[in-house]
Amino acid sequence: METDALPLPATTVCVTGASGFIGSWLVMRLLQRGYIVHATVRDPENRHKVKHLLELPRADTNLTLWKADMTVEGSFDEAIHGCEGVFHVATPMDFESKDPENEVIKPTIEGFLSLIRSCTKAKTVKRIVFTSSAGTVNVEEHQKSVYDETDNSDLDFIYSKKMTGWMYFASKILAEKVAWEAAKENNIVFISIIPTLVVGPFIMPTFPPSLITALSPITGNEPHYSIIDQCQYVHLGDLCEAHIFLYEYPNAEGRYICSSHDATIYDVAKMIRDKWPEYDIPTEFEDIEKDIPVVSFSSKKLIGMGFTFKYTLEDMYTGAIETCREKGLLPHSTKNQANREKKKLHLNSKKFHGHDQEELPAIGKEKHSNGQVNRVLSDISENHTNGRV
Ligand SMILES: NC(=O)c1ccc[n+]([C@@H]2O[C@H](COP(=O)([O-])OP(=O)(O)OC[C@H]3O[C@@H](n4cnc5c(N)ncnc54)[C@H](OP(=O)(O)O)[C@@H]3O)[C@@H](O)[C@H]2O)c1
Repeated sequence: METDALPLPATTVCVTGASGFIGSWLVMRLLQRGYIVHATVRDPENRHKVKHLLELPRADTNLTLWKADMTVEGSFDEAIHGCEGVFHVATPMDFESKDPENEVIKPTIEGFLSLIRSCTKAKTVKRIVFTSSAGTVNVEEHQKSVYDETDNSDLDFIYSKKMTGWMYFASKILAEKVAWEAAKENNIVFISIIPTLVVGPFIMPTFPPSLITALSPITGNEPHYSIIDQCQYVHLGDLCEAHIFLYEYPNAEGRYICSSHDATIYDVAKMIRDKWPEYDIPTEFEDIEKDIPVVSFSSKKLIGMGFTFKYTLEDMYTGAIETCREKGLLPHSTKNQANREKKKLHLNSKKFHGHDQEELPAIGKEKHSNGQVNRVLSDISENHTNGRV
């Protein structure tokens, strides 16, 4: 499904977190579709962080950048003024925080409520589309084989276990809940999209957070292996189409899972080895069983509305690898000099993220009491490599 026809008359929408991996692709697709886009970023003066937005086709006529921060009350007022819809993609994440309640959970909830107050003040906003997280669905002690929109993560379990990324899960769960209620009270339609691990080509200039995990078999970033021992995936293009599809779908409301593929790390490793033999990919992954139980996220609800996923898992990896190569974020080969290159990749990550991966905690090593790694850690891997996004 390609949503390229221009909506008439032109509609103005706001996209928060517009410079990021998902936000920037979504802005590009909205511009292609003819929307007028108010894109929010925390620092519009930072040319390096906004250049890819300003260079988009139709940006000169249909795109404006607005400074907005979720930690500042009323920050979204100006950007949302005159908008019919808001795509709330931004999220504060700092898993290294010494004060997660005040630095992650509260800003996510308060920032979202503040954004809804801005929508109410604007009086023009009809729909909010929230980029939620798989972390709102399956963070619980015992994993089921299939999850859908009726499933909710266990907040008591999250607070009692305080596993890696617990504050991110709590923030997304609580924000989704309170924002949904606040939107309802203000007669704004609330749509929550729940993506699994997002992979694909991209336009942001730096290494996208989720690709640190997805491409770990190439980069040798071992702490990330257990996150994708068995994982669910969606292509960035499909995810952004789903955002627009649901925004435009007349009766859409509530939660929608957006996930198209499941694979084990062995499947992914084989695919990469077969298609890109120039990479030195492990054939064995320590402590990861080959017949690991499959957990999948069902997109039946979205598909039932007529949405079609366009991309295969191979498309996701092709897009991601080719874009990383073009931007000089990934070597073209790791064969013959595997160790040297991988070491270099780790060193380069300092350049890309401003933090040293080595010093950060081993994501994915958090095991639930049933011995299964929590799959939903996948979408927050950046915090274990970036410290802060
Ligand atoms: N990637 C995945 O696999 C995945 C999976 C599931 C869900 N998600 C969700 O998708 C959304 C986008 O993720 P992403 O992968 O695109 O990550 P990303 O590239 O790191 O983008 C996140 C954006 O959030 C913005 N942000 C952070 N703190 C903020 C604050 N206090 N106020 C305003 N903006 C703030 C940042 O904006 P600035 O650039 O302006 O600083 C950044 O561009 C998040 O809500 C995440 O929970 C992602």
